[in-house]
Amino acid sequence: MAFRAAVITASDRSYRGERKDESGPLVAEMLKAAGYRIVSCDILPDERQMLAEKMKAICDNNEADLIVITGGTGFSPRDYTPEATMDIAERAVPGIPEAMRACSLQKTNRAILSRSVAAIRKQTLIVNLPGSPKAAKENLECVLGALEHGLQILTGVPE
Ligand code: MTE
Repeated sequence: MAFRAAVITASDRSYRGERKDESGPLVAEMLKAAGYRIVSCDILPDERQMLAEKMKAICDNNEADLIVITGGTGFSPRDYTPEATMDIAERAVPGIPEAMRACSLQKTNRAILSRSVAAIRKQTLIVNLPGSPKAAKENLECVLGALEHGLQILTGVPE
C-alpha cells in the first residue's frame, strides 16, 4: 500500500496569486514517482500559526503519513516554517535536515542558509524543504530514498 503524502507550499506571494507555485507541484511529482499517493496540495501564507494548525490537523486526523512543506526556511522576516513545525512537533528528526544540508553543500555553500527541520507528530513525519524549485528538488532528492523505511517503522507497516 502506498504511503500518503500531503504537500504544503509556504509562500505569501503564491498564496496571494502573485507568483505561480512551481515547487509544490514539483515536490508532488517527485513523491508520486517514488510511489507515494498525494492526498492534498495546499498553498498557505508565511503565517506561523496557520502553518502549524494545518500541519497539526493533517497529523491529528491521520490524513497523511508524510507532510512535505516547501518554503519559509530562510532568513526573511516572515520565514517561520521551521518554527511552525517545531510548535507542533512531538519528536525531532535531525538526521533528515543534517543530510539535506550536507548533500546540498556539494552544490552550493548557501545550503547552510536553509533552517529546515524534520519532525514527527503522532504517526506523521514532517519534512521542511527550501522554497525555490531547484533547492526543493535537490534537498528532497537527498533524503527521499531513506524515508520509506522510516515511515514503515512509524506507521507499523511490515516491510
Ligand atoms: N539547497 C540546495 N540544494 N540548493 C539551493 O539552491 N538554496 C539555499 C538553501 N538551500 C539552495 C539550498 C538558499 S539560497 C537559501 S536562502 C535557503 O536554502 C532557504 O531557502 P528558502 O528561504 O527558500 O526556504
